[in-house]
Amino acid sequence: MNQQKDIENREDIDKLMWSFYDRMMVDPVIGYIFTHYAKLDLNVHIPIIADFWETILFQRPVYKRGPKAMETHFDLNKKVQLRKQHFTRWLYLFHETLDELYSGTKATLAKERSISIANLMQNRIGKLGDCTKI
Ligand code: HEM
Repeated sequence: MNQQKDIENREDIDKLMWSFYDRMMVDPVIGYIFTHYAKLDLNVHIPIIADFWETILFQRPVYKRGPKAMETHFDLNKKVQLRKQHFTRWLYLFHETLDELYSGTKATLAKERSISIANLMQNRIGKLGDCTKI
C-alpha cells in the first residue's frame, strides 16, 4: 500500500505548489489564464502562494498581503472572465496534486479550505458582475 506522509513543513508546501502549477500551466481548461492573461513568473508567484498556504495550514502569519488574495482575482476577472468551470478545474487539480503527494490532517485541511475559499471567491466575483455567468 502507498504510505503517504502529511504536509509537515514549508518544504512540503513548496513541493505541493510546484507540482500544482506544473499541471495548471499546461491544463487545457485553465492553463491559458496563467500563460496568456496573467503571464506569471512562477519564481515570484510560487513563494507568495506558498506563504498563503503556510499561514493557513500552520497559522504562521507569513502571508502579509491580506485582501490581495481576493482582490487579485477580481482584477483578473476584468481581464478574463472567471467561470464556474475554471474554479471546478482549479479545485480538481489542487485536490489531485494533494492526493498524489500527501495524506493526513493538514492535507485534509488544505482541501477543505480550498473549497471554502473558492466558493467565497466565486460568490464575490458573481456579485461584482453577471451572476448568471459564474
Ligand atoms: C478559477 C480559479 C483561479 C484562478 C484562474 C486563479 C488565478 C490566479 C492568478 C493568475 C494569480 C496571479 C495574479 C497576479 O499576480 O497577477 C493568482 C494569485 C493568487 N491566487 Fe489564485 N486563482 C484561482 C483560484 C484561487 C483560489 C481558490 C485560491 C485560494 C484557495 C487562490 C489563491 C491565490 C493567492 C493567495 C494568490 C496570490 C495573491 C497575491 O498576490 O498576494 N486562487 N491566482
